[in-house]
Amino acid sequence: MVKLTAWDWAFSIMPYNERWRTLRRHFHEHYTGPALLHYQPVQLQEVRGMLQDVLNNPTDTRRYIRRVPGATIIRVTYGARNETQTQEYIDLAEKALEAGKKMAIPGAFYAEAIPLLKYIPAWLPGGYARKFAAVYRPVLKQMIHKPYDEVKDAMASGRELPSVAYNLISQFQSDSEPTPEEDSITRDVTAMAYVGAVDTTTAAIEFAGYLETLRSFPITPLAVPHTVTEDDEYQGFRIPKDTTIIPNVWAMLNDPEDYPDPFSFKPERFVGDDGQINPAVRNPRDYLFGFGRRVCPGSEFAIALTELTVASLLHVFDIEAGADERGVPVSLTTERGNEAICYPETFPRVFKPRSVEAEKMIQALEHDQTLAD
Ligand code: HEM
Repeated sequence: MVKLTAWDWAFSIMPYNERWRTLRRHFHEHYTGPALLHYQPVQLQEVRGMLQDVLNNPTDTRRYIRRVPGATIIRVTYGARNETQTQEYIDLAEKALEAGKKMAIPGAFYAEAIPLLKYIPAWLPGGYARKFAAVYRPVLKQMIHKPYDEVKDAMASGRELPSVAYNLISQFQSDSEPTPEEDSITRDVTAMAYVGAVDTTTAAIEFAGYLETLRSFPITPLAVPHTVTEDDEYQGFRIPKDTTIIPNVWAMLNDPEDYPDPFSFKPERFVGDDGQINPAVRNPRDYLFGFGRRVCPGSEFAIALTELTVASLLHVFDIEAGADERGVPVSLTTERGNEAICYPETFPRVFKPRSVEAEKMIQALEHDQTLAD
């Protein structure tokens, strides 16, 4: 299914090979360490815009928060010119992700188990795999090429904005015909842009409530499946080559040996007797982002942006569950969707400025996202 829908472009799904190593190297250069400092203005703009939206329309907060990481990543990667263009790219990514999330459920497609089914035309019974691919493949193609082509067009007319795509294209562009290497950059840039969703600095996630939120609500509870490349053995279990391993991150984060009474939300579990974060308690970051050489390379980016988002919201708003459209009180739970990337089913509806000063401060925030045309 991954091939049929063109999702095999994504480097999170690629086998370990030369191309993956190249992508991982580029990614590291542009989305970790010192590079992140360049992106702080964009992150701030997006978070400030979000605070103003929340102030004006608090019941829609979920949507505004959700937009922040997507918009930040897209602006950093392609230098999108304004909110309309940013939203257009986000919509493409959301639609493509819809396919990814459906395909990631083991057993969702018979064609995975019976490969012959993938040859059955869309219009015949049993042609579901092809029908599905016919809907999503064009979306994937557009998501990969449209933003990239628009950066190139902007460069051709000298209107480009600073972006990762611009840096990479300049790095590879010769003044003659595009080289095969340059062509492959289209896919590389997209592969890096769309994989994840949140994050910014490596520094302190040193507050326990935040750690407890990461622990009790992993957005990728089964991480990403891996194929074992050679026969292996673990604690007496033989694991033959080509076995698919699905890491149960959710179980690790709810292991009562590491986190007693795991289903209760207890930030204090991370705090030692000295009032500091207790290093003896396992840090959820060690699992949440996967493992080994494939560990999420966007974690620094994600942590920084979530920290900024959480800290900004808590600084200016009092948050309450509130009531839904029919006036029924919302009961907040840890229920989540059952897709590979999952979100809270319930969400607070009341975001009240903590004071008149807080309200004025939000209104005065500068967050103009329209960049020179
Ligand atoms: C809270 C936010 C995030 C979570 C929980 C998360 C989680 C994960 C997990 C579990 C994996 C699979 C690791 C493995 O295979 O063992 C992964 C891979 C990946 N993530 Fe993230 N991620 C997040 C944010 C991001 C962001 C913001 C970016 C990009 C800026 C990103 C880029 C990637 C990439 C490129 C891979 C594939 C790496 C590879 O296969 O070599 N992630 N992520």
